[in-house]
Amino acid sequence: MTTMVPIIDFDACSLARSKVASDRLPELARSLLKSLSVDGVVILKNHGIDEKEIRSAFDLSDEFFRSPADNKLLFEAKSEDNFKIGYAHSGTERYSRVKNFREAFRLRPGTHSTIDTVVPGFVKAQQLLFTSMGKLVQRLVRLLAIGLEIDENVFTDKFKKMGEEGNSSYMMHNWYTTEQSFDKSGEAIRLFGHFDNSALTLLVTSKHPGLQFRNREGEWSDVPPSGDNIIVLIGQIMEAWTEDKLKAPFHRVTFPERDQGTDNRMSCAFFAIPDNAHTICSIHGSEKYPPFKPDVFFVDKLNVLYK
Ligand SMILES: [Fe+2]
Repeated sequence: MTTMVPIIDFDACSLARSKVASDRLPELARSLLKSLSVDGVVILKNHGIDEKEIRSAFDLSDEFFRSPADNKLLFEAKSEDNFKIGYAHSGTERYSRVKNFREAFRLRPGTHSTIDTVVPGFVKAQQLLFTSMGKLVQRLVRLLAIGLEIDENVFTDKFKKMGEEGNSSYMMHNWYTTEQSFDKSGEAIRLFGHFDNSALTLLVTSKHPGLQFRNREGEWSDVPPSGDNIIVLIGQIMEAWTEDKLKAPFHRVTFPERDQGTDNRMSCAFFAIPDNAHTICSIHGSEKYPPFKPDVFFVDKLNVLYK
């Protein structure tokens, strides 16, 4: 059975608006919360990020991934960096103990200022998209708080420094090669099943199918390629923060037969993490989730994932 992913019309909160349409917020907040409460995944349309801005960041990261290996390795992630910011070449990362055949580039504003020497225009394009994604996160978490009927600033207050020192949120470009991994049942997989350890993940993908989440019935269900929309996933930080009212979906990327042997699949994920200085307490003081530091929580989960 395939579950349809709920589509949310974000127009009332679109970034194309200088001010949100306040009179429409309660309805949008209710609808967003209700939809995310089902399986932890929604598709946002009319989000207001310019399609050209997304295309430009995608095209320039594609150009980077197609550049000579020696150039890419100049930006390789340092092994001592807990967040793995920088370039990772294919097969170096093991997810759930199995090799992933994808190249990846994790970045934050200011982390790779010399990359324009390899791909002119890269820095500005990524900075622009990062900033827009950060603004969208601010609007999304405000709506979630309204929907949860708590102080609407409870979440937004914790995301004030995205893109600055003191916040660990990052953007990750993925470039899946045409090599395959296989799961235990022999199914071709591009990325093994996992939970995201962020608060929210915002995702855009190339035209390639394959993203799936496990629905309430425990069955894999397709998420269509994003097109002009943005896919939003709940992460484990938000799950703990809301005491399981919003659950992080288990998800993976398969390698459908019709897509095999063709070109590379690309995606860009924005992992929103609250500012490092805060201690996150569950909204009603749950004992299941004791207070935690978001950056420490994130890295602990990342280490489990890549063990
Ligand atoms: Fe993920």
